[in-house]
Amino acid sequence: MRFQNEWLKRGLIAALLTSTALPAYAQDAAQRADAQLATMSLQDQMSLVFSRFGGGFGGDAIPAGALGSAAFLQPTPHHGLPTLEITDAGLGVGDPRHLRPDGLVVSLPSGLATASTWDVDMARKGGTMIGNEAWRTGFNVLLAGGADLTRDPRNGRNFEYAGEDPVLTGRIVGNTIAGVQSQHVITTIKHFAMNDLETSRMTMSANIAPAAMRESDLLGFEIAIETGHPGSVMCSYNRVNDLYACENAYLLTKTLKQDWKFPGFVMSDWGADHTTARAALAGLDQESSGDTIDSRPFFGKALADAVQKGAVPKERVSDMARRVMYAIYDAGLSEHPPVIQPVDFAADKAVAERDEEEGIVLLKNTHDLLPLHPDARVLVVGGHADAGVLSGGGSSQVNPPGGNAVPLKDKNLPWPGAPVYFPSAPFKAMQALAPGRVTYDPGTDLRKATTAAHRADAVVVFATKWSFESADSPDVSLPDQQDVLIAALAKANPHVIVVLETGNPVLMPWLPNVQVVLEAWYPGSDGGTAIARVLYGAVTPSGHLPMSFPQSAAQLPRPEIPGVKADTVFDVQFHTDQEVMYDEGSEVGYRWYDHTHQQPLFPFGFGLSYSQFQFDDLHTMTTAQGVSASFTVHNTGKREGAAVPQIYVTLPDGGGRRLAGWARVTLAPGTSQTVTVPLEPRVFARFDETAGNWRIPAGDFVVRLASDAQSSGLTQTLKLDSTTIKP
Ligand code: BGC
Repeated sequence: MRFQNEWLKRGLIAALLTSTALPAYAQDAAQRADAQLATMSLQDQMSLVFSRFGGGFGGDAIPAGALGSAAFLQPTPHHGLPTLEITDAGLGVGDPRHLRPDGLVVSLPSGLATASTWDVDMARKGGTMIGNEAWRTGFNVLLAGGADLTRDPRNGRNFEYAGEDPVLTGRIVGNTIAGVQSQHVITTIKHFAMNDLETSRMTMSANIAPAAMRESDLLGFEIAIETGHPGSVMCSYNRVNDLYACENAYLLTKTLKQDWKFPGFVMSDWGADHTTARAALAGLDQESSGDTIDSRPFFGKALADAVQKGAVPKERVSDMARRVMYAIYDAGLSEHPPVIQPVDFAADKAVAERDEEEGIVLLKNTHDLLPLHPDARVLVVGGHADAGVLSGGGSSQVNPPGGNAVPLKDKNLPWPGAPVYFPSAPFKAMQALAPGRVTYDPGTDLRKATTAAHRADAVVVFATKWSFESADSPDVSLPDQQDVLIAALAKANPHVIVVLETGNPVLMPWLPNVQVVLEAWYPGSDGGTAIARVLYGAVTPSGHLPMSFPQSAAQLPRPEIPGVKADTVFDVQFHTDQEVMYDEGSEVGYRWYDHTHQQPLFPFGFGLSYSQFQFDDLHTMTTAQGVSASFTVHNTGKREGAAVPQIYVTLPDGGGRRLAGWARVTLAPGTSQTVTVPLEPRVFARFDETAGNWRIPAGDFVVRLASDAQSSGLTQTLKLDSTTIKP
C-alpha cells in the first residue's frame, strides 16, 4: 500500500526521537537513559536489542543466566544494567518452563472477566498482584497487557483481552499495566496491532482504512498506553495493510512513537521479526528470542553488519538502546531487582476471587431464582464442576498448584496441550455454603442426569468451551453436545441455572427454557468460590458484558472467518497470503449492531443484579477540560449492589453509538448518588488521516445514559462546534 510504504521511507527520521519530544512524565528516566547512552559503545548498545530464548529450546538445557522462561537478555556488564528476565503473561506468571520451587502462583480470571467488572481499581489491583508475583518469582519483564479488540467472537485469544470497545479496553488494560509497572516490572502492551484473529496469525493481513483503525483498535492501545505507561509494546505476528506489524512504520513510528510520543521500546512477538534493516528502520527496537524462534537472528550480528554497511544508521541503534534503558529506569529495575521469595498465596488468591466475583455477568434471572436458598436441593451437572474451573490455553497459561485438576488422558498433545482446570471446584464451594443440599452428576449420561434433575429443586449446569492461542473456534456454539444436555435438563426441571465458563460469547438455543444464565468466563485460581458466592447471594452480581453476544453468526460482519478454516490445528497459523478485510471499519461490536439495526442476543454493557437501579437527571457540561455528564443513580431494590450506568454518544453524521464513559456506583438499598463522568473526547471525533489529528464535527450529538449499548435510556442533545484535538 502506497500510504504505508511512504511511512516506511519517512519512518527513520521520526524514529530518531530525542527525549525532549517526550511527555513530561517520561523526562527523568529519559534523561538517565541519555546520560548512560553517552558512555556506551555500539556493542554495549547492541546488547540491549536482542533477547534470547530463556527456556531451553527443544529440550536443550536452560541457558546460563536465564531463569527458564520466554526470554532473557544480558546487557554487557560494565554499565550496571540488569539482566532482563522476561515471562508470560497477562493473567499471572505463566511460564510453564519456570515453576517456582513451591509451585504457588495465582491466576487472575480471564481478561474478559476483569473487563466485565468495568472497575479500573480492580484492574489495577489485579495488575499489582501479578506484577508482584512476577517480581517474587525473579522476573522483571511481564508480557501482559493484551489489548486487541474483539472483532470476531471466535478469536481464540479474546479471553486474554478486554472486549470490543476501545475506551473500556484502554482503561481496563491501562490500569492493569499501571499495576504491574508499580512493582518494578516492565510490562508490554500487545499485540500491536489488529491481531484480532488467530487464523493464519503469522501471515494474515488485516486490511483496514487507517482512520478507522485509529478510531477503534488503535484508540484502545492509545488510551491504555496513556493510562498505564508500559515500558514496552509488542508488535504482532500478522500483517497490517500488507506490511508485517513489526516492520510497519505507520504503526511503530508514525502512530506510536511520533503521534503518541511513546518513550519505551517495541519488542517483536516471538517469531514476528522477518528482517533486519526493514524492521529496524520501521521502528522495531528489540528482537525477542531471536536466537531460536525467528527464522534466523536479525538483530544480533546481522544488525551489526547492517550498521557497518550503512543500511541502518548507528543513531537508530542508539535510539533502540535508549528506549530499552528508558523502560528499565522508568520501572526502577536497577534499584529494585527481583528477590525470589514466596508469594502471599492466600492474599493473592483473594484478589483473583474478588476480580471474578465482580466480573461474573448475570444475563437472565427469571422470577429471581437466584440467589439460591441454602435449603434448596440443588443438583450440579457437568463442566468438571466437582474438580475445578477451566482456563484458556496458550502462552498466558498459569500452572495450577498441584497440576491440572482434571488430569490429561493424553499427555503427548502438541502445544498448547489440553484444557487446564484450576482446583477450585464450584461444587465443593457450593456444598460449603449449603451443607448436605448439593449433589453432583457429571452430565455424561443423559438419562442419569435428567433422572437426578427430576428430584432436585434447582439444577445448576456448568457449560464449558475452551479457547486457546493459535486457533479460532470454527463457530459460536457450545461444543460436545452441551446444548442437548442443557435442553434435556430444562425439560426435566423448570429451574435450570446455566453457568458458562467460556472465552467468548456462545449461542443459547435453550435460552427460553432455562431460568438463569451466568457468564463466568474463565474464572481464575479461586473461581469456584466466586461462582458459589454469587449463586448463594454472598455477592450481588455487578458484571456487565464487554462484548455483544450474537443471535447467530449471520449477524457478524463476517459470518465466516476468511481464509483457512481453523480446525484447531496448530499449523493453520502458518498458511500464507490470507487477508481479512475489516470493511466495518471502526463500527466494531455493538457499534456494528447499532449501525446495521440488528438486535444481538445480549448487548454490550448488559448485566443484571439482584437489586434494581434507576438513573435520572442527565445533564451534560462543556468546560475547557471537555465534556462531562452528570446523573443520579438510585438503588430501588432490596439489596446492596453496584450499578454501571454507561454514557454513549452518537455523532451528528451518524454511525453506531460509542461508549464515552461510565461510572461504577455501589449503593445500599433505597439510597441514591449523583455522579459526574468525564467523557472521552476522541469518541466525539473522527480521525482525519490527512491532517493527522482528531476532528470533532460541528452539530448535534446525542448523549445517552443507559444500562447497555442497545437500550434507549435517557438522552440529551449536545451542540458542539467543530474542534480539533491533537493526537
Ligand atoms: C505470543 C505472545 C507471548 C509470546 C512469548 C507468542 O506466541 O503471541 O503473546 O507473549 O509468545 O511466549
